[in-house]
Amino acid sequence: MISVPVATPSRSYEVLIGGGLLTRAGECLGRFLENRRAFVVTVAPVRRLWAKVLKKSLAASGIETELLEMPNGERSKRLATLEKLAEQLVKLGADRGITLIALGGGVVGDVTGFLASIYMRGVDVIQVPTTVLAQVDAAIGGKTGVNLVSGKNLLGTFHQPRAVLVDPAILETLSTREYFAGLYESLKCGVIGDPGLFRLFEDKRREILDRDPVMLEKVIADSVRLKASVVSADEREGGLRQVLNFGHTIGHALEAETRYAELLHGEAVAWGMIAATHIALSTGKLDSVTAGRITNAVLGFGKLPRMKLQTANIVKRLRSDKKTKQGVVHFILPREIGKVEITSDVPEAIVRSAVDEIRKLARN
Ligand code: GLY
Repeated sequence: MISVPVATPSRSYEVLIGGGLLTRAGECLGRFLENRRAFVVTVAPVRRLWAKVLKKSLAASGIETELLEMPNGERSKRLATLEKLAEQLVKLGADRGITLIALGGGVVGDVTGFLASIYMRGVDVIQVPTTVLAQVDAAIGGKTGVNLVSGKNLLGTFHQPRAVLVDPAILETLSTREYFAGLYESLKCGVIGDPGLFRLFEDKRREILDRDPVMLEKVIADSVRLKASVVSADEREGGLRQVLNFGHTIGHALEAETRYAELLHGEAVAWGMIAATHIALSTGKLDSVTAGRITNAVLGFGKLPRMKLQTANIVKRLRSDKKTKQGVVHFILPREIGKVEITSDVPEAIVRSAVDEIRKLARN
């Protein structure tokens, strides 16, 4: 088992990583469940696959499990879901000493984390992520939230988990599309801060895409280390944590423009990374060889979904993004493999040309 520490001002905890770790959840997490009762929040497809394994393992350590189910999908990431779960907790006699366990992907983790941060003014949460995206990104760092009609993640809190349990063997059951989409976030970690991880995506791509267990565990662990080091240095996104948004500036605009229906989050980030690389090249911040390596690594996963875009609409959306401050759009641009720069100084013509570039690629 690999243990990666996260040390933020509000809490220090460990991310425990290992193939088959879910079957040892009781042994790994028992010390955090002082009152021997766990409230597991999940969705139906994950419950069918993994809830029994988790429950059995916790029971072997003398921990009783209550299962709470929320509807699956991004549409359930709403305040109403939180309220329903909270009412169920009260009915089950959950007091302020309880621990919630989030068993699922990013939506389950965000909703459960948010619920934990406000239920009876705050209870503990343990994250047990079941998608690549959640294992390498969403479950680590304490961001929680739900969507409003006006936009994604507009309500939320920072609430660090007591522990994160990552079992890469769980990923075997993901669809190829969802698996690849999550891996783009891992590739992102390589570009922003880990040249060795990036090289794995060049040299061992086949093994990674084929879910070779040894390679997969390495990729997940390296990505978790990168994320852990960033959030340990900047818990509340005062500065450095923004580097995790490489590919997200244009990625978010693409997701919104395609009405969250055509692209998975990771796929939007993949297009966004290509666009940001193009901007870095056009502004003289990146050499063409390195730009080619990043673009090839992204496209090396196979064809990304096509989309129909109007460049003007994307530029308009960039101006109204939640992360845009006083109308100034911030970009995370690669300077070399493993090093990025945060800048707001990108001429609009260059942004347009980057969007044109991905429009062209997305039509082929
Ligand atoms: N997913 C970006 C962050 O955690 O800051």
